[in-house]
Amino acid sequence: MRIVLVGPPGAGKGTQAAYLAKNLAIPHISTGDLFRANISQSTALGREAKSYMDAGQLVPDSVTIAMAEDRMGHADAANGFLLDGFPRNIGQAESLDDYLKGHDLKLDAVLDLEVPEDEVVKRIAGRRICRKDSSHVFHAEYNKPKAEGVCDVCGGELYQRDDDSEDTVRKRLEVYHTQTEPIIDYYKAQDLVVTIPALGKVSEVTERAMAALKALS
Ligand code: AP5
Ligand code: ZN
Repeated sequence: MRIVLVGPPGAGKGTQAAYLAKNLAIPHISTGDLFRANISQSTALGREAKSYMDAGQLVPDSVTIAMAEDRMGHADAANGFLLDGFPRNIGQAESLDDYLKGHDLKLDAVLDLEVPEDEVVKRIAGRRICRKDSSHVFHAEYNKPKAEGVCDVCGGELYQRDDDSEDTVRKRLEVYHTQTEPIIDYYKAQDLVVTIPALGKVSEVTERAMAALKALS
């Protein structure tokens, strides 16, 4: 399957993507995680992306689209993928359509994670991620690691993301409303959108998403 996950910052896209990708045996492709990996390796791409990310702005399309297409072209993505955080504006959605058409492929669904804004703010405030792999995500209250400050998956140190400060989160939410939300209508016109209520336990949200995907096939 080829799936896009959309939703505001802190909605739980990365958390859900980890479970969904495992259940569906497809790779989880997160542009945010790809940028963070480049930042921790101090690549030129990482240095360019960091200034935008720290300001809560989108990284320019030229950079982002090339990186996403490169990742979608890897052998492990030949039979499907779960996109998390891409596309994030209409230009990226159009270029993804062109990429898929060019490869004779199509999307199966766009899962829209719906969470009220006050909950999103709480989720981001308590989020802790792993220094070794930013797809290892925990929460100080809702999704505690077994040992405080230590990643359950790989033993890496847990820390708070640089862009999770109050001011940057406000900017990211504004960017979400103005630039990313319009892609939901874009995909509604293609009859691809399934809204998933994303309040409740992580496992309950995964079950809702899996049930919605089963209903499509
Ligand atoms: P990115 O990393 O994609 O961030 P985001 O979209 O803002 O989303 P988040 O990672 O903040 O949240 P999430 O929805 O994944 O939530 P999570 O699962 O962690 O992007 C970061 C930046 O990179 C962007 O601002 C931009 O600069 C750049 N970028 C990335 N992609 C780009 C693109 N395509 N174009 C241009 N620029 C791009 O969950 C949040 C917390 O809640 C966690 O602590 C988790 O444990 C907890 N939680 C999850 N589910 C539940 C639940 N059900 N109940 C209670 N707690 C929960
Ligand atoms: Zn880890």
